Amino acid sequence: MLKNPSTKYRPFPPVQLPGRQWPNRVLTHAPIWCSVDLRDGNQALAVPMNVSQKLELFQTLVKCGFKEIEVGFPSASNTEFTFNRRLIEENRAPEDVWLQVLVQAREDLIERTIESLVGAKKVIIHLYNSTSPAQRRVVFGKTPKEIIDVAVQGARMIYERLHRLKGTQITLQYSPESFSATEVEFGKEISEAVMDVWKPTPAKKMILNLPDTVEVAMPNVYADQIEWICRNIKNRDSLIVSLHTHNDRYTGVAATELGLLAGADRVEGTLFGNGERTGNLDIVTVALNLYMHGIDPRLDFSNLNSIREIYERCTGMDIPARQPYAGELVFTAFSGSHQDAIRKGLNEWGNGRQQHWDVPYLTIDPNDIGREYREVIRVNSQSGKGGVAYLLENEYGIELPKELQREFGPIANDEVDRLGREVSGAELKAMFWREYIERSAPWELKGFETESRNGTVRCRARLTRDGKPVEFSGEGNGPLAALVHGFSTAGVPRFEITQYSEHALSSGEEAAAIAYIQIKTTNGKTRWGAGVDTNIELASVKAVLSALNRS
Ligand code: KIV
Ligand code: ZN
Repeated sequence: MLKNPSTKYRPFPPVQLPGRQWPNRVLTHAPIWCSVDLRDGNQALAVPMNVSQKLELFQTLVKCGFKEIEVGFPSASNTEFTFNRRLIEENRAPEDVWLQVLVQAREDLIERTIESLVGAKKVIIHLYNSTSPAQRRVVFGKTPKEIIDVAVQGARMIYERLHRLKGTQITLQYSPESFSATEVEFGKEISEAVMDVWKPTPAKKMILNLPDTVEVAMPNVYADQIEWICRNIKNRDSLIVSLHTHNDRYTGVAATELGLLAGADRVEGTLFGNGERTGNLDIVTVALNLYMHGIDPRLDFSNLNSIREIYERCTGMDIPARQPYAGELVFTAFSGSHQDAIRKGLNEWGNGRQQHWDVPYLTIDPNDIGREYREVIRVNSQSGKGGVAYLLENEYGIELPKELQREFGPIANDEVDRLGREVSGAELKAMFWREYIERSAPWELKGFETESRNGTVRCRARLTRDGKPVEFSGEGNGPLAALVHGFSTAGVPRFEITQYSEHALSSGEEAAAIAYIQIKTTNGKTRWGAGVDTNIELASVKAVLSALNRS
């Protein structure tokens, strides 16, 4: 890379737009959507879709609710032409779906395009030519006036042939391709020249598509360009202003959303953003971004997994794991604190304590789009106590008290860190067993009996301390109080039991109970112990020994 990139690259000039309005607006409704999966998306595939794959994707787009679908570039190849013919002759497009076709401003191509449309019910004929200074100079070697002539000639050639599409409802669309890299004044001039030929009216509008063919600036600049056109173009009310963004600077979604604020009516894009280079706009993301603000997107992604599966099969593209809404991992929480917060949020939602979805870390209910929230199924050094506790509880029914989670979490994390990899539930359980249950030194239990008289419990404990037998008795208002008293008579520094809980272990070899005990020593320090036994009294005695052994 260059030390001083300004010797090679320059900033994009801002649009002069005093009093711009779009920053103060909010989106309140869905735009008109147009899928360009079968044209822009398809032309960007290493192996373009065959007719049957295109048909399957077409049906899927219809099912999602798209009413405008750019089905191809019928003059570009026989496959494209045939596909168009099959859609029309086999009556595959529902009554309310417009078939859109793309064509350049060339007579032979326009001829073939019109031929491909005969018999269709609703069509959008989409004419484009490129308008940016670089395209004018480098690619076409034409003056601005000559570039306008290309557009006007193309518009005329289409207009003069419309009578051949009797019985077909027709909408005309013009794209000054590379609009976002074009001077706005020239974008307006060329668009108005096309309007002069097509003569749109408020009752019979034409589509003016303003492509961000290559993203060359920040999304606010695109929004300024759109607002500038919406404010300055003549007969705005005879136009459907349409956005068509790509993603070269990774801001195709942002550019579209800001472009809508700037006054556009319509959006072109593809499922999951397939398209040339870094892709077209990802329509799924923009639609679901509207949805998560409570706006009906008028597209149905209730079964996103199945749409994804069809898309991947037809296009041969993969959806990255972090792709918004659709990615494999976007509803999986790895971090313990995230899991904890999500669980609390889901709980509130489930109990009807939230009027509107307000679950931390989940912008949308995954169930609404046929997906599921998943907690981490592996624990790594980033998982925290929540992940550890979740795994022990879910896989082994071990319900650690909150404070014990706080004690064991860091112990487990240190161990996971030392291993430098993710660990399984079984490994975590083994860690817990080693740390709490399997401690037998210095104290080990050999026998414990109690008898109760007049509310006083007497115990007799047989133990070993570092392998040497120790016996003592004690009394108290329960077996544990008696045990604590017995220890004090055996010269063990004083301690008290500050927390106690127990539960049955659901299954497995233990088929037993587990007890958790927190003790507090005279210096005020607390420590947890845990014990397992088929006898709950013995489980709690073992838990006391476990706490003492962990000093
Ligand atoms: O990206 C683009 O500019 C296009 C046009 C043909 C609309 O795909
Ligand atoms: Zn494009």
